[in-house]
Amino acid sequence: MAKTKTQFVCQNCGSNSPKWLGRCPQCEEWNTFTEEVVTKPNNKVPGVVASKSSNKPLSLSQIKTEENPRIDTFNTEFNRVLGGGVVPGSMVLIGGEPGIGKSTLALQVALDLKGRKVLYVSGEESLEQIRLRANRLKRSGETCLFVSETALENILLHIEQEQPELVIIDSIQTISTDRMDSSPGSVGQIRECTAALLHKAKASSIPILLIGHITKDGSLAGPKVLEHIVDTVLHFEGDRNYMYRILRSVKNRFGSTSELGIFEMQTEGLREVSNPSELLLSQNSQSLSGTAICASIEGMRPILIEVQALVSTAAYGTPQRSATGFDLRRMNMLLAVLEKRAGFKLAAKDVFLNIAGGIKVDDPAIDLSVLGAVLSSNFDIAIDKKICFAGEVGLTGEIRPVNRLEQRIREADKLGFDEIIVPKVGKPIQLKGTKISVFQASRVEEAFKRVFG
Ligand code: TYD
Ligand code: MG
Repeated sequence: MAKTKTQFVCQNCGSNSPKWLGRCPQCEEWNTFTEEVVTKPNNKVPGVVASKSSNKPLSLSQIKTEENPRIDTFNTEFNRVLGGGVVPGSMVLIGGEPGIGKSTLALQVALDLKGRKVLYVSGEESLEQIRLRANRLKRSGETCLFVSETALENILLHIEQEQPELVIIDSIQTISTDRMDSSPGSVGQIRECTAALLHKAKASSIPILLIGHITKDGSLAGPKVLEHIVDTVLHFEGDRNYMYRILRSVKNRFGSTSELGIFEMQTEGLREVSNPSELLLSQNSQSLSGTAICASIEGMRPILIEVQALVSTAAYGTPQRSATGFDLRRMNMLLAVLEKRAGFKLAAKDVFLNIAGGIKVDDPAIDLSVLGAVLSSNFDIAIDKKICFAGEVGLTGEIRPVNRLEQRIREADKLGFDEIIVPKVGKPIQLKGTKISVFQASRVEEAFKRVFG
């Protein structure tokens, strides 16, 4: 009998080596090598048959395009992130932390796809559990078929027999093929199964939606190669203690990656949030010190976000600084700018910062409202509820221009704000059809003189 050959595979990036290594030379991660048995792929298995007829190179005009309209998922937020619906034959990967709502989203999409046959493969839940969840979502979905299965070959067979219009697989980490001896969820298995499924999707034009888990450090569990193989990678994120969930597109071969979908987790499933601003602003009509509102842009949509800060005298020697939903280093930099350029003494103060609603913001235009909230808490003077901000702050204390200023101003006007403080960009801004007054400031001192007098 031939000796079984083994190799060591990095569970992070998929590189291999004949002997065990403590640190992967390719991705430089520690302790990621595990031993896997090398098996020659069996070419008789469907999905990995090498094509015998080789393709002839063609010019663009020779390439036939079939009228392949996207599949409308009847979920506006999901459609938006995909770029207008599911493209036939494409492979979409939805990643997210455990318990964030990936299965709920997938099931909702499956049950809402009216008049189309959907195959929902679950490797994690039993059929009874899915039934209970569907009851909870108050949906029936007559055209959706369910199967609890983890063997790749059986899944491919089900797809072949049922010929559905969409396949959902929950999750890729639970699927395995007998062609490999490694356990489900290992790099080899994930790579092999995804490649076989991709082949099926492309060959049959049936789109496949994969669900993938995310590791503690926020990357998709399994090799990075997974992200390269699929057409679209979506991240489902949010703070589990809050109800908002954001679906972000990280990679999309068929659409823009700057779109995002916003959902609210309710007892009856995920609700699409089409007007996020109203939800993220706290409903307090009173003005309170330590809050400032930013006219932000998330994806392509303007959202008004409330920034909250608490500044207090440090009880111990070293002041504490903490930020939730905002980069701590950036906050420290902004505080240093305030201290050095505008003369506010904050070195001996504890500063806590929080973005309302548990969302993460990377829009640089939020800088000005971060400083606004910090100063407001420091002076204990409330900023008028009818004022909002949009501006990036530079190291010299200058307020730098931000993108889509007009869209931000219009959103603030629509939500009834009286004034918006923005960077100075040449001539005064007055947008047609808006009542909001636009105050342009070139430096932070100027902006805060206007607000606090
Ligand atoms: P789930 O979709 O199972 O998460 P994932 O597949 O990403 O691990 O969702 C889990 C959470 O969602 C669970 O903690 C309960 C909550 N939930 C609701 O609040 N309402 C609902 O209708 C459903 C189905 C789940
Ligand atoms: Mg799940």
